[in-house]
Amino acid sequence: MSAKKLGIIGGGGHIGLIHAACLASLGYKVAAYDLDDRKIKNLQKALVPFYEPGLEELVKKGLEEERLRFTGNPEELSDAELVFICVGTPALPDGSADLRQVERAVEELARLAQGPVIAAIKSTVPVGTNRKLSQQLGKLGLSHKLTVIANPEFLAEGSGIDDFLKPSRIVVGGEDPQAMEKVVAVQSPSAAPVIKTSWENAELIKHASNALLATKISFINEVAAICEAFKGDIRIVSQGIGLDPRIGPHFLEAGLGFSGPCLGKDLRSFISQFGAVGEDALLLEAVFYINLKQLYSFVQKLEEHLGGLRGQKLGVLGLAFKPGTDDVRDSHSLPIIRHLLSRGAVVAAHDPLVGKSPQKDWLSRRLPSLQWAASPYEAAERKDALLILTACPEYRELDLERLKNSMANPLIFDGRNLFDSREMKELGFEYIGIGI
Ligand SMILES: NC(=O)c1ccc[n+]([C@@H]2O[C@H](COP(=O)([O-])OP(=O)(O)OC[C@H]3O[C@@H](n4cnc5c(N)ncnc54)[C@H](O)[C@@H]3O)[C@@H](O)[C@H]2O)c1
Repeated sequence: MSAKKLGIIGGGGHIGLIHAACLASLGYKVAAYDLDDRKIKNLQKALVPFYEPGLEELVKKGLEEERLRFTGNPEELSDAELVFICVGTPALPDGSADLRQVERAVEELARLAQGPVIAAIKSTVPVGTNRKLSQQLGKLGLSHKLTVIANPEFLAEGSGIDDFLKPSRIVVGGEDPQAMEKVVAVQSPSAAPVIKTSWENAELIKHASNALLATKISFINEVAAICEAFKGDIRIVSQGIGLDPRIGPHFLEAGLGFSGPCLGKDLRSFISQFGAVGEDALLLEAVFYINLKQLYSFVQKLEEHLGGLRGQKLGVLGLAFKPGTDDVRDSHSLPIIRHLLSRGAVVAAHDPLVGKSPQKDWLSRRLPSLQWAASPYEAAERKDALLILTACPEYRELDLERLKNSMANPLIFDGRNLFDSREMKELGFEYIGIGI
């Protein structure tokens, strides 16, 4: 298919842009369409709207070699044989997924296609969505066949390009084996395991995978609470658990819990899907509440320790929802900072990537009284406490002596357990982590 043109709807977003750039790097001609004109105009100049390692270089290369094209005109996808739908599926207030972007994207594709086309749905959608979309299209009496294939995405921000090029698996769901094969063939540069299945199984695999990752995090955070009570160390407990090959070490780090644009949103959507068919999601409800409790406990502990927040000068390290990205969507740092500010604390924050990205303006509009620090040392200077909220690798390398000497009170509340508590005490810090 490499001579054929591929299309992306939502090509300025995290998933869409990574797909567009990676597919162009594999030799395909890719037209990436997005509703957001500002993103498109910037992308046409190779200005990437968010940080993802290696992405800017791939975008530049794709543009230079004329394999990658960004457009605000959907008609430019009209001759594509395969279009990836990568639009958002945000949570509605009741936790269910808002499917309007997906529906609009598919309708648009149906309207403009000049020949048979496959819509590969990358967006994370509730079980039953792909079948429903396909049935709705069937009733439209389209002149060209539009085949809907569920193709959930598993890449993680921060390692998106590697994950795309070496996927852990490719999952496709549908009722047209040839179309499924085409979707697989386009995106399998490496010999990744492939699962070809029904629409519903593909949708369930995506939701259950994210729900299990969230469960592991809430599990270890629950164990962290009992560790604290017995003066244990969750990092050692976690290491001991993770060495069991049946369990594995991933997603077993105690901390502030899961945050970011996917795990929480997808968990809530999955829970609401259980409700819709009259089933209880007892375990997943608990996973969700443990995650909320984790955040609440962290802030409460800080407040108790300081004897209130009014007038306290606090430094924050980390705004992104995880290291290696500038994505602050649903990051834990936001509700924590909002709470601190609302209680009268003065807060200065540092983040190595957010501080240099367009997300800084977005955040400044939402948290106008937040002060920005150019370095972690500036964030800590003359502060009554320093909070570590994102496990950025550079924070592990800090000159701790310098940090301590610059603080009014050498108190660290570490929501990511970056340091050894005994060593920190020896250095003269009061150090409070999670489960240690
Ligand atoms: N971000 C992740 O790490 C990740 C991982 C796996 C799956 N997903 C899923 O992928 C989907 C996209 O996530 P994202 O993080 O890339 O979202 P995003 O908000 O970064 O990107 C979505 C893009 O779609 C555009 N858009 C919306 N409606 C459109 C339309 N009708 N036509 C053209 N463009 C349109 C938006 O302008 C935006 O640029 C979601 O369902 C998400 O759950 C995300």
